[in-house]
Amino acid sequence: MLAYSGGVDTSVCIPYLKQEWGVEEVITFAADLGQGDELEPIRLKALASGASQSIVSDLIEPFITEFAFPAIRANALYEGRYPLSTALARPLIARRLVEIAREVGADAVAHGCTGKGNDQVRFDVAIGALAPELKVLAPAREWGMSREQTIAYGERCGIAAPVSKKSPYSIDLNLLGRSIEAGSLEDPDVEPPEEIYAMTCSVEAAPATPQVVEIGFEHGNPVSLDGERLDPVTMIRRANALAGSHGFGRLDMVENRVVGIKSREIYETPGLLLLIKAHQELESLTLAADVLRYKRQVEMSWADLVYQGLWYGPLKQALDGFLDRTQDTVNGRVRLKLHRGNATVVGRSSDSDSLYVPDMATYGSEDLFDHRAAEGFIYVWGLPTRLWSARHRAG
Ligand code: ARG
Repeated sequence: MLAYSGGVDTSVCIPYLKQEWGVEEVITFAADLGQGDELEPIRLKALASGASQSIVSDLIEPFITEFAFPAIRANALYEGRYPLSTALARPLIARRLVEIAREVGADAVAHGCTGKGNDQVRFDVAIGALAPELKVLAPAREWGMSREQTIAYGERCGIAAPVSKKSPYSIDLNLLGRSIEAGSLEDPDVEPPEEIYAMTCSVEAAPATPQVVEIGFEHGNPVSLDGERLDPVTMIRRANALAGSHGFGRLDMVENRVVGIKSREIYETPGLLLLIKAHQELESLTLAADVLRYKRQVEMSWADLVYQGLWYGPLKQALDGFLDRTQDTVNGRVRLKLHRGNATVVGRSSDSDSLYVPDMATYGSEDLFDHRAAEGFIYVWGLPTRLWSARHRAG
C-alpha cells in the first residue's frame, strides 16, 4: 500500500518496489487535500506505472476540521513562524493509508520520503502508532539515486518524465499552503524569485486600496467572514484568496529539521496565517491573563510536537485537553486591514466573553478603578525588591 502523489519519487517507487524488492503487488493511495491537482490523471498514472489498483480519496474536510482548525485554536507556529501546513497533513494521510491497507489486506505500507526530511519521521511514527503490525517501506531512503537518476530509472520503466523536468524546485502543497525548497533557494542568502509563488501576489502587485475583513469565531473556530457564515473548507478557501490577493502570507525562513539540519524554506500560507493572527487577537480580549500566558507556552510545545511527527502521542492528547478547555470563551469578531503584504488588526469585540471592562480601563470621569488601593498593593509587591536592595546596595 503506497502513499502516492503522482510525482517522480512516488511513481518510481512502484516499479522499484516490484523489481528491486520483490514486492508482488503495489496498490497506491492518493489523498485529495485540496491541492487543486487533477486526481483522475494521477489515478491513471499509478496504474500506468504498474500499480494493480489505484485509490484516491477526498480528505479535504477532515483535513480542515480535524487538523487545521485545532492548529488555529493552538495558534500553532513552529519556531514562531511556520504554521505547519505540510506537517498537519501527514498524520491524516497516514491514518487513511493504514485504514485502506487493512481493507485491502496489505502487509506493508510504503512512502516516497527521502532520508533527510521531516515527512519520513511523521509517516513512520504515525504508522507505527496506528498499525504496529504493518511494515513500513521507504525505498527513496535507500535507493541512493539523484533526481536525474530517478527520472532515468522511471523512463526505463515506461514512466513519463515530469513535464517540468527543468523545474528545480521541490514543492509540497495542499489547501493550507505551499512549501517550496531546492534550486536557487538552497542558498539562504538568495532572494526567492517571484515565479515560485502561486497563492500570493507580490507586495508590488498588491492593490493600493486597503480592504478590511471581519472574521467571526465561536469556541476558537473561525465561522464567519464579513458576517457571512461559512463552512470550514470554504472559510479556508476564502481566507486564502483574500489574504493572497493582498500579498499577505509569504514566509522565508531557515528552520531546524527533526533530523538535525537547518534548511531554508519558503512558504505561502495566506489563509492560515490570517486566521491565526485574528484568533490570537481575540484571545487577548477573552482569555484571562494567566491562562493566556500559560497557553502561549503550551502552543509552542504543541507546534513542536506536530512538526516532530508526534501527533498520535500522549503529550498531544494531554495538551489538547488544556487547549480545548481554553477555547470555551473564545467567541467574537476581529477586523483586519489587508494592505500591501500586511494584515493589521484594527478592531476586536466579543458580546459574551470580553474581559475588557471600560469602567476599569478608562481615563475619563466614569473611572471605577480605586487608585488609592494601588499604594498598598505596590508596598507589598515591591517589598522583596526593597529588602534585597537594602542588603546589597553598594556603599
Ligand atoms: N519543511 C516543511 C516541513 O517540514 C515542508 C516540508 C515539505 N515536504 C516535502 N515533501 N516537500 O513541514
